[in-house]
Amino acid sequence: MKNRWKVIIIIGISILLLIQLFPGDRTNPPVTGEIQTSAEMNKILQKSCYDCHSHQTRWPWYSRIAPSSWLVIHDVDEGREHLNFSTWNNYTSREKIKIYEEIREVLKEEEMPLKPYLWLHPEAGLSEEDKQALFQWVSQTGSDTL
Ligand code: HEC
Repeated sequence: MKNRWKVIIIIGISILLLIQLFPGDRTNPPVTGEIQTSAEMNKILQKSCYDCHSHQTRWPWYSRIAPSSWLVIHDVDEGREHLNFSTWNNYTSREKIKIYEEIREVLKEEEMPLKPYLWLHPEAGLSEEDKQALFQWVSQTGSDTL
């Protein structure tokens, strides 16, 4: 019985060590068309959204270690695909309007920033004022873009 546990633990550790050979690709490609907003808005976006929606991700220590690295890299890749503030100028007006609408939606539903991320990065949370400022900004800029 004792030996069986030893074997299981050794196999477990070996797997953990082995997957470290494949931590995944943590990229920060060049910023080619960053969104231009007020200093206040920039601060909020950078604090709460940029880690997953820009090319200026501050990769945390646990993004270096598999398997958590896979989860983080997946979130960032998917986040950038949906909305990327670093390539903002490449969006058409139509796309921007849609994104403004989606931002309003995620703010209303309190979907962003993602909950597991907030547990690990409480400082990235949106205060009530942040939320209101963001909401006002997307509503205003959204209708200006129309
Ligand atoms: C920890 C990573 C992470 C952070 C931080 C984050 N997001 Fe996201 N976001 C994602 C991922 C992943 C998706 C795509 C999957 C999904 O919709 O859940 C996404 C999708 C979105 C979408 C598209 C939703 C849709 O309906 O398709 C919007 C808009 C958005 N995020 C806005 C924001 C805003 C605004 C912030 C900051 C207040 C933010 N996100 C912070 C990871 C993140």
